[in-house]
Amino acid sequence: MKYRDLIQFEPVETVIQLISSEDADYAAQLVQTYVISERMAEVITEVIIPHLQFHYPHDNKGVLVVGNYGTGKSHLLSVLTSVAGDSGLLQHLTNDIVKEEMGGIGGQFQVLRLEIGAVTNDLRSIICSNLERFLAGIGVEYHFPAASEITNNKDCLYEMMEAFYSVYPEQGLLIAIDEMLDYLHSRKDFNLVLDLGFLRELGEVCKNTRIRVIAGVQESLFDNPKFQFVAESLRRVQDRFEQVKIAREDVAYVVEQRLLKKNETQRAMIKGHLEKFAGLFERMAANMHEFVNLYPVHPAYLEVFERVYIAEKREILKTISLHIRRLLDQDVPEDDPGLVSFDSYWSFIKENPTLRTDPDVKKVIDAANVVEEKLRTGVLNPVSRESSLRILSALSVHRLTTGEINVRMGLAPEEIKGGGSPAHPWASGTECGLPGDHHQHPPGGDAQAHQREIHRLQQREPPVLS
Ligand SMILES: Nc1ncnc2c1ncn2[C@@H]1O[C@H](COP(=O)(O)OP(=O)(O)OP(=O)(O)O)[C@@H](O)[C@H]1O
Ligand SMILES: [Mg+2]
Repeated sequence: MKYRDLIQFEPVETVIQLISSEDADYAAQLVQTYVISERMAEVITEVIIPHLQFHYPHDNKGVLVVGNYGTGKSHLLSVLTSVAGDSGLLQHLTNDIVKEEMGGIGGQFQVLRLEIGAVTNDLRSIICSNLERFLAGIGVEYHFPAASEITNNKDCLYEMMEAFYSVYPEQGLLIAIDEMLDYLHSRKDFNLVLDLGFLRELGEVCKNTRIRVIAGVQESLFDNPKFQFVAESLRRVQDRFEQVKIAREDVAYVVEQRLLKKNETQRAMIKGHLEKFAGLFERMAANMHEFVNLYPVHPAYLEVFERVYIAEKREILKTISLHIRRLLDQDVPEDDPGLVSFDSYWSFIKENPTLRTDPDVKKVIDAANVVEEKLRTGVLNPVSRESSLRILSALSVHRLTTGEINVRMGLAPEEIKGGGSPAHPWASGTECGLPGDHHQHPPGGDAQAHQREIHRLQQREPPVLS
């Protein structure tokens, strides 16, 4: 049995350009392929739609979609803007509750999509010039006065909306902005204060007009230490923007439902396979459903990936897609669960030359290389050696999750085992993402001796790595 027999693999290796969803066919495809976790359905129906709609009184604010790299911010913005601009797309939504609630905004907006690239203009002039061009294209004539001629931006935005209503009396104007954080990062002191001031004003006019603003940002703008020097401006923006976060469970849902989708037969096969090992792994036994849904990805992979702090652009869905691609034609081992856990992420870190430029990552890679050499030459039993190397990989990844690499905080043997690293060599193999590398120890064999060995490694490694 090969991995490809157990999953309907759909790689997720590209990122979405918000602007591309202007194309009607592509928009329909994006709406169709967007999978919606229960939590995300709640976020959409209870937070996003109430702020976007203009049919009932609500303290309408701007909406910020916050999430790590490649977690679906642009896809979500594309779905929302596409449906807001064309009610015909409602039918393609994959969640019935969301479909019903989105009826309240479907086709109710003229939509301006913006991706702010590496430009030096201030936010006001970027948004205003795009608005003027966009409005002219949909038959609304309006010109913003120069920034030097006005005392606030809100009055212009109100005037602009009067012009808009005269052509579109029933509709709203939705401004969707993607990649905003990168732009704000590039802004200096005074300019940043002005940009944030404009953003706040945009958020404010949502309350009294049918302007709506939704933006995607990679991390929370408001907790970002780099912006602390403009804390007061940020606080005022925060008052007028609602943040919605793309959480790990939403990403896990995409992994389950899109990347690693399974039919009932495949689910039964996976369950049958994993049940043989459930007695060895408490976490698996208690969460069999989750393990089957994510198979062959171990749930700990997603947890640890989220915690790894490295400067590189890390895209969880893309990284998992790459792992699975390598596995597809491998045999699922008979004598171990064959799960991919976070230790396998180490090879991605090691193989990425740009990461070595980060002094912390370099130190961990160098230290891990020393330990690896010792394990390769010092551990004679090949089974123990493979297990040890995998534990080393797991610990090395863990080292990059603790915020500070010298912190004396390791992983307990139980955590390694629970996280999918091979505490028992007879239950390892692809457990740690090295497929086809399993071995024939019967369950129960020399488990205790190996537990002791792991304990020893545990005691030894953090000092070596720090
Ligand atoms: N809920 C989802 N349903 C289906 N596909 C999804 C979902 N979330 C993310 N994806 C897929 O994951 C990939 C990355 O999504 P997207 O480009 O929206 O991420 P992002 O958060 O905007 O990334 P970046 O931070 O790089 O801009 C895309 O191929 C997208 O289709
Ligand atoms: Mg994006």
